[in-house]
Amino acid sequence: MSEAREIRLGVLGCGTVGTSFCQLIADQAEVIEARTGIRLRVVSVSVRDLAKPRAGVDASLLTTDSAALVSDPGVDLVVETMGGVEGTRELVLAALRAGKPVVTANKALLAAHGPELYAAADEANVDIGFEAAVAAGIPLIGPLRESLVGEDISRVMGILNGTTNYILSQMTEKGADYADALADAQALGYAEADPTADVEGHDAAAKASILATLAFGRSVLGDDVHTEGISKITAEDIDDADRRGFVIKLLGVVERFDDGSIGARVFPAMVPKLHPLAAVRDSFNAVFVEGVGIDQVMLYGRGAGGHPTAAMVVGDTVNAAMNLVAKTHRRVVNLGPAVVRPVEDIESAFFVSLEVADEPGVLAAIANEFGEHMVSISSMEQEDLESTARLLFITHHAVESNFRATLTGIEALPAVKSVGRVLRVIGS
Ligand SMILES: NC(=O)c1ccc[n+]([C@@H]2O[C@H](COP(=O)([O-])OP(=O)(O)OC[C@H]3O[C@@H](n4cnc5c(N)ncnc54)[C@H](OP(=O)(O)O)[C@@H]3O)[C@@H](O)[C@H]2O)c1
Repeated sequence: MSEAREIRLGVLGCGTVGTSFCQLIADQAEVIEARTGIRLRVVSVSVRDLAKPRAGVDASLLTTDSAALVSDPGVDLVVETMGGVEGTRELVLAALRAGKPVVTANKALLAAHGPELYAAADEANVDIGFEAAVAAGIPLIGPLRESLVGEDISRVMGILNGTTNYILSQMTEKGADYADALADAQALGYAEADPTADVEGHDAAAKASILATLAFGRSVLGDDVHTEGISKITAEDIDDADRRGFVIKLLGVVERFDDGSIGARVFPAMVPKLHPLAAVRDSFNAVFVEGVGIDQVMLYGRGAGGHPTAAMVVGDTVNAAMNLVAKTHRRVVNLGPAVVRPVEDIESAFFVSLEVADEPGVLAAIANEFGEHMVSISSMEQEDLESTARLLFITHHAVESNFRATLTGIEALPAVKSVGRVLRVIGS
C-alpha cells in the first residue's frame, strides 16, 4: 500500500464550528486516510483570545496571527470558520493566491464577495469549498456542483433559516405569538440576542444569493435578493393560513425565467399543508431543487449547529485535499453578472385579507378592481364581524405590480375599512 500523503490544515477561528471541526478531524483522520489515502492534520488554529478554553483542541496550536497562519509554508489548506466579511476576505484571497485551497462556512462573506473568491480559486487552480455556508448540515452544494452539474435547473426553493422555522413552528403548533416564540428561540440558543439577521430574512438572503449563483452560473449577491422577514407575522396570520389548509414558512426562492433573467427572493409564504416543505418543522431546513430532467428533489437536515456544520466542512476539506494532491480543482461556473428581475415583475399567487363595510355592492366593486388589473381570483371567503365583514382572497398567479395596483384601487373604495396582511402563496 502506498504511503498516505499528509495535508496540513490551518484553521481560522475556533468557536462553535471550528472546535467541532478540529474534534472531527482528530476523530476521523484514520477513517479518512483509509478511504482516501490522505492524512489530514490540523497544524495551526487562529483565535482572538488565547486564554479561552477549547475542548479537544491542542492549545500549542493556537495563534492570534491569522495572516501568518495563512502565509505559513507549513500550511497546505486553509479552513475558514471565523466569520466576518472585510478582513476575512483578504485572508481568503491571500490563501488562494498562495495556491492553498480554502474551505469556508461563511455565507456573509460569499454573499458579498463570492464571485471574486471563486475567480481567485479558479485562477490559482485550487478549490474553494463552501458546503457549510448554505443549509449548514445538508449536503446541498455538493449535489449542485457535481450530480446536478449537467441539469437545467429552473428553481431552488427552501427553508434556509432554522431560527425562523423554529419560531413559525412554535406559532403554528403551540399557538404562540411572535414575541413569545422568539423569546423561546433565544432561550434555546437558536436565536441571537439581536435576532435581526435571522428574523428580517438577511441570513436566508445571503444563502439564496449563493444558491442562485451556483444554480444558474451568474453572479447574484446578497444585496440583489428581495428580502422580507417574519417579524410582522401574527398569530392571526397563522390562524388564517391554518383554516385555509396552509402553514406559513419563510422561504428563499431563486428561479430562472425564459428570458434568462433571475428571480431571487426571501419572503414569508403560505405553503399548502400537503406540500413537503410544510412538514419541515422545528429548526430543520429543507431545500427543493427543480429541473428539467430531475423534476423535483428535496434535501432535508440540520441547518445549523457545530457538529452538522463541521461535518460538511470536513467533507469539503477532504475533497479539496484530494484535488490539491491531484493538482486539479472544481470550478464554480460564472458567466458574469445576473440580470435580476425586479420583484414587481415576478408572478405569484397572493393571499389578502380586507375589512369592509357589510353592505350591498362591496364585493362587486372589489371584484371589479381585481378584473381591471388582470388579477383573477382563485378563492374568496367571508367572515362576518360585528358591523363589518372580513373578506379573504387567494388569487391565481399574477404579476406583482398588477396585484399591488389592485390593492391601491381597493384601498380607495369607500366601503373598504382596511387592507390586512398580504402573503404570497406557494405550491398550491
Ligand atoms: N454556528 C453555526 O451553526 C453555523 C452554521 C453554518 C455556518 N456558520 C458560519 O461559520 C462561521 C463561524 O461561526 P461560529 O458559530 O463557529 O462562530 P463563533 O462561535 O463566534 O466562532 C468564531 C471564532 O473565530 C474567532 N475569530 C473571530 N474573529 C477573529 C479574528 N479577527 N482573528 C482571529 N480569530 C477570530 C473567534 O475567536 P475567539 O474564540 O477567541 O473569540 C472564534 O473562535 C460563520 O461564518 C458562520 O456564519 C455557523
